[in-house]
Amino acid sequence: MDRIEKAMEKAQLNTGVGFKKTNPINDELHQVEKITYTETQTLKLNQKELIQRRVVAQQKYSPEASVFKMLRTKILKQLRENNWKSIAVTGATQGAGKTMVAVNLAIAMAMEVNQTILLVDMDLKYPKVHWYFDLQIKAGLRDYLLSDIPLTDVLINPEGIERLVVLPGRGEAVGSSELISGLKMKKLITEISNRYESRIIIFDMPPVLAADDVLASMNYYDSALLVVEEGGNNELEVKKSLHMLSGTNLLGTVLNKSENPPDHQSYY
Ligand SMILES: Nc1ncnc2c1ncn2[C@@H]1O[C@H](COP(=O)(O)OP(=O)(O)OP(=O)(O)O)[C@@H](O)[C@H]1O
Ligand SMILES: [Mg+2]
Repeated sequence: MDRIEKAMEKAQLNTGVGFKKTNPINDELHQVEKITYTETQTLKLNQKELIQRRVVAQQKYSPEASVFKMLRTKILKQLRENNWKSIAVTGATQGAGKTMVAVNLAIAMAMEVNQTILLVDMDLKYPKVHWYFDLQIKAGLRDYLLSDIPLTDVLINPEGIERLVVLPGRGEAVGSSELISGLKMKKLITEISNRYESRIIIFDMPPVLAADDVLASMNYYDSALLVVEEGGNNELEVKKSLHMLSGTNLLGTVLNKSENPPDHQSYY
């Protein structure tokens, strides 16, 4: 583990945020100013189910939520300073916790009143964003790319998180990197990137070492966040991943499933 931390430190990327293996606790929804969506479908959330699935950033008072608020604040500072508008959340290998981080980061960012967030499930092979929100969806990004359905049929606003819109995934797409670099995807990215000035897009990506999807879509995002799994990723995997991401702006690394979170998170 020391060696992973050294590799992260060497790259001077660690956001200083780590997530312990933990069972989330219950809390109420943080209420925000009201926004009404006319075209986007609003779907109800089951708070108990969310928390079971480690979706915790919506909680008003909880140590788990505050970790994501800290991550949000650090990332927003970098985005604002550089005028970056989009983030790819990726990791070295499968199961590091990329989607868990992307979902919680999206919620934490959406709870700040200054911007709206679009969370896109760009893992066309194993989409899981809808699972985290426990959303029963009829269509996803792959359906949009392969058929004529309008974008509004796919977009979802999770109830109670007014500034968040989710573009979920569904099913398993064959040839995901071809779909990602295809014309329809390019048009979609142009449309969603230019529609609202104050919108930040978070892409939940597949692992950077397992497929070329992250590289194939590098033009779509301004920055990247690397999720590292303690005990699950070795130093070489971290180094290789950082190298693969050298073509974009690295926001930092997030150490997930850590038994030794940073000192300032004494409540862990
Ligand atoms: N901090 C944590 N503590 C314990 N379990 C966790 C933690 N973070 C994520 N998990 C669990 O690890 C598994 C993988 O998480 P997740 O799906 O977010 O990873 P991923 O990197 O997106 O995976 P994939 O490569 O399949 O997209 C899930 O079962 C999730 O509940
Ligand atoms: Mg994932």
